[in-house]
Amino acid sequence: MTFVPSDGQRKRVFIRTYGCQMNVYDSDRMADVLRPLGYALSNSPAEADLVVLNTCHIREHASEKVYSELGRLRDEKLERRAAGRDLTIAVAGCVAQAEGEEILRRQPAVDIVVGPQAYHRLPQLLAEAERKAAIRRAGKRLPGAGVLDTDFPAESKFDHLPSPQGVRAGSAFLSIQEGCDKFCTFCVVPYTRGAEYSRPVAAVLAEARQLVEAGAIEITLLGQNVNAYHGEAAPSSIGGSTWSLASLIRALAEIDGVARIRYPTSHPRDMDEELIAVHGDVPQLMPYLHLPVQSGSDRILEAMNRRHGRDLFLRLVERLRECRPDLALSTDFIVGFPGESDADFDHTMRLVGEVGFASAFSFKYSRRPGTPGSAMPDQVPENVKAARLAALQTLLGQQARDFNLSKVGATAPVLFAEAGRKPGQIVGKTPWLQSVYADGDPRLIGHIVDVRLTEGHANSLAGEIASLCEAAA
Ligand code: 5AD
Ligand code: SF4
Repeated sequence: MTFVPSDGQRKRVFIRTYGCQMNVYDSDRMADVLRPLGYALSNSPAEADLVVLNTCHIREHASEKVYSELGRLRDEKLERRAAGRDLTIAVAGCVAQAEGEEILRRQPAVDIVVGPQAYHRLPQLLAEAERKAAIRRAGKRLPGAGVLDTDFPAESKFDHLPSPQGVRAGSAFLSIQEGCDKFCTFCVVPYTRGAEYSRPVAAVLAEARQLVEAGAIEITLLGQNVNAYHGEAAPSSIGGSTWSLASLIRALAEIDGVARIRYPTSHPRDMDEELIAVHGDVPQLMPYLHLPVQSGSDRILEAMNRRHGRDLFLRLVERLRECRPDLALSTDFIVGFPGESDADFDHTMRLVGEVGFASAFSFKYSRRPGTPGSAMPDQVPENVKAARLAALQTLLGQQARDFNLSKVGATAPVLFAEAGRKPGQIVGKTPWLQSVYADGDPRLIGHIVDVRLTEGHANSLAGEIASLCEAAA
């Protein structure tokens, strides 16, 4: 049984998304699943009948934030109950997957815990939660009132999720791959998202066409490790039985209307020659690559089980830049992995100096229960981690500013995404994924427009609209 409210009592759902773009995509899919049940999206928990926290477990700080938010939601629920109403609380995403029952124990106000592989079963879970709430309202006590679904089903959730509706200002996410088999020793992803799974080519291409019909001109391919993609080939295709990411990008570029293709979060080990070549000869593939290196020390890379050393990374960078000289390189670093010495950290700083990154994310190592890293000896003290992170971020910040400044004076096509903070201002992205602020008509949002770049800052550029590449209505 699913409970579908009549038109007179439309329900509202507020979804808060933590963490990566994969979660942003999943939140859209949850909204798609809930819409036929009569749930409209709400902008605030205060107005919602159902609050979903789509959580991130990657670092300790990220999961602790979830518990503080749950505390606030419990207070809201108690207030409402006192007034004869209710609030349904659901925890989704990687904390749900990793902690399961523990969430219900730590915060009994939670009604539903649902892992990332089970979103298509949300209607049944809501019905079950409603049934239990009705028993509670009737005054009968229920041991373990929350509902839990963190199974990894044999069939793919993608077969069950409705078609996406998530095109925002010409830009859309398309999930092509999930899970990871790499087992880096610091990382929870292989445990929370499970084994690697690639969606079949035909399903990806069909979704891409739908997105273009719905107005997308930029498609960002998502996955925990997108360049590990090896989807079952399209029925009509000749050649191998699976397609690599390179073949998929070439096919996507053939779809009329796809002006920009991006893929974040790739692994150096899966960066093959074929994919490097695509960076050189598919103009729709934007000149930006997020290639996490984590450390510049071979010793630490080995302890992290990264399956690549600094030399392989540097060789990849060289080959990529041969194919696409203007490539903006982005990366991730972890400082203070167990056993990291001053000399190891020095190797990281030197690698940064050698490569020159356009942007980067850097984190203090966070001990995640159940991962091999958490049990390693020689954990690095917090103050050492903090000092290393500060030094690294200073250097990376300088490089990001230099990269932005290097574009000043150029004219670049910018895909405008939203209104800026100042009146009359709109914000968009260059091909190199830099944010650009310009004065412009809001009708340009969702369009690619030539912009003369006039100022470079640490995190953004300012520009003046030069001409319309792709006419706005
Ligand atoms: N501690 C710190 N950072 C981590 N990351 C993943 N796991 C951890 C951890 N335990 C970082 C990595 C990864 C990014 C998404 O998050 O740099 O590339
Ligand atoms: Fe985590 Fe490593 Fe897989 Fe990336 S490649 S998701 S860091 S295990």
